[in-house]
Amino acid sequence: MNRTDFGDDFLWGVATAAAQIEGAANIGGKGPTIWDTFSKRPTKIRKGHKPDEACDFYHRYQGDIALVKTLGFKVFRFSIAWARIFPLGTGMPNKEGIAFYHRIIDECLRQDILPMITLYHWDLPEALSQLGGWTAFGINASFNEYVLFCAKEYGDKVKHWIVINEPFGFTSLGYMLGIHAPGASGVGNFFDAALHTAIAQADGAKILRAEVGQAVIGTAFSCSEIIPYTQSVQDHLAAKRMDTLMNRFFVEPVLGMGFPTADWDVLEKFAISHSTWRHQQRMTFDFDFIGLQNYFPLVVKYNAFIPVIQAWEVKARSRKVPHTAMGWEINADSFYRIIKQFAAYPSIRNIMITENGAAFHDKLVGHQVKDQERIEYFEKYLQAILRAKQEGINVTGYLAWTLMDNFEWAEGYQARFGLVYNDFKTQQRTIKESGYWWQKFLSK
Ligand code: NOJ
Repeated sequence: MNRTDFGDDFLWGVATAAAQIEGAANIGGKGPTIWDTFSKRPTKIRKGHKPDEACDFYHRYQGDIALVKTLGFKVFRFSIAWARIFPLGTGMPNKEGIAFYHRIIDECLRQDILPMITLYHWDLPEALSQLGGWTAFGINASFNEYVLFCAKEYGDKVKHWIVINEPFGFTSLGYMLGIHAPGASGVGNFFDAALHTAIAQADGAKILRAEVGQAVIGTAFSCSEIIPYTQSVQDHLAAKRMDTLMNRFFVEPVLGMGFPTADWDVLEKFAISHSTWRHQQRMTFDFDFIGLQNYFPLVVKYNAFIPVIQAWEVKARSRKVPHTAMGWEINADSFYRIIKQFAAYPSIRNIMITENGAAFHDKLVGHQVKDQERIEYFEKYLQAILRAKQEGINVTGYLAWTLMDNFEWAEGYQARFGLVYNDFKTQQRTIKESGYWWQKFLSK
């Protein structure tokens, strides 16, 4: 397998997110975000870690963008912290925050790296959360104001945009399960947040289309192949419900299909109470690319005790299959199959893998991190993409998660996903063996 097998136009990059790398939580006029607040609550984040300093990318961005270049990538995906632009989420913009992202973009362009902006990667301004966050009707107006501002400010220099990162990820973890910020729970909160997010992803795209000439607009969905644990009808139905929720729920409204309600009465009730025909129109947008982010398949079995979904995950560890340090199953065939599942929607024109990667128990020994498992992981997952491409599926790019070890949300700094090792005490960066593997792969 060679880089050239993927075609000359294939975009190779790394993906990052503001809250995970920037640090400088209280610097440069930034307002607090839900992650700043959430991390102050005891027990919410492993070992009490906080995003306050993260990788200090805020001050070290030049060197970090140089690392992107050194590794041979063309694309640097980063997100804008909404609260750096609007500290209170809306109203008065913050000059220092605005200037910071100009510096990032200019540095990318200077180093001949293509900047790709994610507008929302989970760090909602705390002030908006106080008003109900994504569950509140008013969130859409604030989001649109923020998107319009960014489009006008950066649209001359940046053409590649991702509106929202993993809508299912943050609405489920943050508003249904309480595991992520803002720590809300309950099905009602989830459905409210989901509707407003589905509207935001299309609204945001329409604003970009109107404001940014030659924009290449995408949005990024998490996806996981759902596999029934046994051949029983109950397990199959449980898997189907899980698939509807995790894979279909946010993409189908974008494609003009509305929420996928037909197969599940709970969703039908939600749709009747929440979304109208007008919403259906508003949630639709013809994206230039659909971003897919895959980390694991999910094996599920029926469980009557789990409210609403009545399905339960059978963990990779208990099935004794290969898995990462997160306990996520390593299964490149499943990656191939989920790409095919999304490519089967006739209106998806092309797919970009906007995140994929793995955490392992990396150790810095001397100046080396020997992460052979990660190299093997990438080799297998890239083969899966190639296979899909050779079958005619239009995959246009791959962004590895992630440039360097960073703040992995509720897992704190323990989970290391980087191609570059970060020592969080000294902020010393060390390229891992997998980073050198990429360098070699991309140089051929
Ligand atoms: C997806 C999220 O977008 C990213 O922020 C996170 O770090 C990775 N998954 C790994 O969990």
